[in-house]
Amino acid sequence: MQKTIAVLEGDGIGPEIVAESIKVLKAIEKKYGHKFELIYAPFGAEAYFSEGSPFPETTVKICDRADAIIKGPVGLAVDKMNQIPQNMRPEIGAILPLRKRYDTFANYRPVRLPKSLASFSPLKESLIGEGLDILMIRELVGGIYFGEKTEGSQTGMKYAEDDCKYTDEQVRRVAIVAFEEARKRKDPLINIHKANVLATSRFWREVVEDVGKSYPEVEYRSMLVDNAAFQLVKNPTQFNGVVLLENMQGDILTDQAGGILGSLGLMPSACIGPKKGYVEAAHGSAPDIANQNKANPYSMIGSVAFLFEKCMNLHQESEDIWNALFGVFEKGYRTAELASPDCDKSKILATREFGDLVVDMI
Ligand code: IPM
Ligand code: MN
Repeated sequence: MQKTIAVLEGDGIGPEIVAESIKVLKAIEKKYGHKFELIYAPFGAEAYFSEGSPFPETTVKICDRADAIIKGPVGLAVDKMNQIPQNMRPEIGAILPLRKRYDTFANYRPVRLPKSLASFSPLKESLIGEGLDILMIRELVGGIYFGEKTEGSQTGMKYAEDDCKYTDEQVRRVAIVAFEEARKRKDPLINIHKANVLATSRFWREVVEDVGKSYPEVEYRSMLVDNAAFQLVKNPTQFNGVVLLENMQGDILTDQAGGILGSLGLMPSACIGPKKGYVEAAHGSAPDIANQNKANPYSMIGSVAFLFEKCMNLHQESEDIWNALFGVFEKGYRTAELASPDCDKSKILATREFGDLVVDMI
């Protein structure tokens, strides 16, 4: 297979963990005889300082031309971020425009922890049971994130407003993605919402349940988001399956899921639109540990596994990466943030060593 891939390294630990994911991509390229053309482009807070925009026109063009995009985390330390005007900060000025441009409505965030690695979780090992294998699917281009934002003053009172809206089509298409995944996996679909209070959530539930009529073989469950937050900690294995969430609720619960795994460094993700997709780690750029060869590259490497699966339909390639990622941990190696205090220090891996071992296993 021949593909052009845009590589946006991002800020903080971005370039380091992206480099490891590219190492792994190249190992797969070699093993399977693919040909990937990589085009690097600036994106994020550093790009604002060097190019005047966090998503410069040149980068837009490169992304438009590419078949898929690999994106590292973005953002710098608070004092640097404070020098950037609000609309040029990488969240508002780069990430949301990237999502909107390619209409990446389906955000896949897997929450995977085999039983053998249960000790990573801050939860009791018994709660991890036979392991976690949850696929969270978050709607990514609708809801309150993309609604109109106003700030003003009325009868002398200052106010701010974020509009939250979902259309039938917006809910339906992501619900179809989620039901299809659930059917493929032969797993339940758990639909999260706040239908006891929000009109958008009642509508969300209604449309999802309508889509569900075409999937009678999929077990369907519905849960309020606050209860889901509680249940995720109390009994996470009940979510083994596909969990469908709207944008904002999905943002929050996927981070919580990272907490349950023991590290946001274990949270890869793929953002898929009708024509194009991009992959990114679900976490931030950790500027405090940047350039120290300390960051866990798992999330970025797992994101490349997703790139193969979701953007190129290369399933064996993706499987190879997942097996290698878990394989490294199963040999007793740990990244710094996952090492327990009594861990054998010779088993603690730096960023580049982790990538090397994944490549060896592939
Ligand atoms: C995420 C991030 C983004 C989001 C931010 C950086 C805009 O938290 O991908 O989860 O809120 O979607
Ligand atoms: Mn988030």
